[in-house]
Amino acid sequence: MRVDVFTQVPHAFGWLTEQKPLATVLGTELELRLFNYRDTTPLRAGQVDDDPYGGGAGMVLRVDVVDAALDAVYGAERPARVVALTPQGRQLDQSLVEELATEPAIAVLSSRFEGFDERIVSHLCTDSVSIGPYVLSGGELPAMVLLDAIARRLPGALADGSGELESFSSALDGGLEYPHYTRPAEYRGWDVPDVLLSGDHGRIDAWRREQSRVRSGA
Ligand SMILES: C[S@@+](CC[C@H](N)C(=O)[O-])C[C@H]1O[C@@H](n2cnc3c(N)ncnc32)[C@H](O)[C@@H]1O
Repeated sequence: MRVDVFTQVPHAFGWLTEQKPLATVLGTELELRLFNYRDTTPLRAGQVDDDPYGGGAGMVLRVDVVDAALDAVYGAERPARVVALTPQGRQLDQSLVEELATEPAIAVLSSRFEGFDERIVSHLCTDSVSIGPYVLSGGELPAMVLLDAIARRLPGALADGSGELESFSSALDGGLEYPHYTRPAEYRGWDVPDVLLSGDHGRIDAWRREQSRVRSGA
């Protein structure tokens, strides 16, 4: 899969590319390309944004700048999914992650300051996605959230088995994962549930499924 991120801060992604599981699939299952709107802007002095019509605070990312960036990278063949990251978009959940992870290529557009000229979202993008009902200062963290969540779903990203039985997976009927414990078995009077120390894998499995159901409110 190829993910192309358009951003004003490409160097922000350096940390993420060194972290597993993204680092594990980078160069094999995942190709990540970072594009800076400034490199392809048709405006002078690297300008990418402008004052909002109607007045008000903040700068707005220009539609001609984003269109030029997409033209420079893709020509006439844009990816089937072009995703604008905006707090006003569809809220990201595991099913949307799974859906995007099956695409051969996606483009992810981030903005800063006051956000996108609305024509970018309505005419240049197929999707608008929010990572939650709060406002961040830029789309770089949302893009990294989306990238990490997608990378986990790519073949070879995770150790065998660890991606199958986790929160929101079909193996848990979309519910939350059961609680985990490790050594010590007792700490300040806080005990690990006996069943987990029993060695009885049938009981352990039944206990975990019940815990998952309770946590998920099922
Ligand atoms: C300060 S925000 C703009 C907020 C916008 N003026 C509003 O009130 O909806 C700047 C940029 O950060 C990104 N961003 C901020 N919060 C986000 C969120 N919850 N999900 C996705 N992207 C977000 C988007 O790319 C957005 O255009």
